[in-house]
Amino acid sequence: MSIIETLEKRRTRYSLTPELPVPFEQVRDLIKQVTELTPDAFDSRSGRLVVLTGEENRRFWDMVIGTFDPPVADYKRACFRGCFGTILFFYDNDIVAALEEKHELFRPYFQGWAMQASAMLQINIWNALAEIGVGASLHHYNPVIDDTVKSMFGLPASWKLIGQMPFGGLDADPRVKDPDDVDTRVTFIG
Ligand SMILES: Cc1cc2nc3c(=O)[nH]c(=O)nc-3n(C[C@H](O)[C@H](O)[C@H](O)COP(=O)(O)O)c2cc1C
Repeated sequence: MSIIETLEKRRTRYSLTPELPVPFEQVRDLIKQVTELTPDAFDSRSGRLVVLTGEENRRFWDMVIGTFDPPVADYKRACFRGCFGTILFFYDNDIVAALEEKHELFRPYFQGWAMQASAMLQINIWNALAEIGVGASLHHYNPVIDDTVKSMFGLPASWKLIGQMPFGGLDADPRVKDPDDVDTRVTFIG
């Protein structure tokens, strides 16, 4: 599959089933491989992922749904209850703090770079899942849920939660997107 075909396949999928089109072991290996191959500022490897499945996944989303008032929208609630699993994306702030300490000149930028590296990891995983026919979407219930998530799953205090990505089998088609006048966004010079 070409890179463009993969990018076309990656969409926000709110309609997910609890059955994966491939064995979970394949998804697990893919997530690990993509994590290893995705770059990070100073090769710092600050990204941390927790993949929730089964009862732990349901426990997580019940907590999220129970936390928010006004409530989580119905179509998102269905997505969370219907998914196979969820990837929680973090970065380890201890690694970022060590870099800030070591490289004074770049001190103001390390938090931003850790965020950017996490974003690269998120999109690489989202694309890789799409390529094997696994649907996903991306959500941000942080920072409201940060402390609860860490205590629920016994995670280090230094981990900063960045995003939550439910994944599962494909169900309904994604929404039709408005056309994009990409020429107003991309400039070629020279
Ligand atoms: C950085 C980022 C943050 C996002 N946060 C959310 C979110 O919190 N909740 C949500 O439902 N979708 C979220 N999305 C999904 C976007 O709304 C979606 O990607 C966009 O509408 C384009 O649709 P597509 O993913 O189908 O191409 C996020 C996407 C990105 C890239």
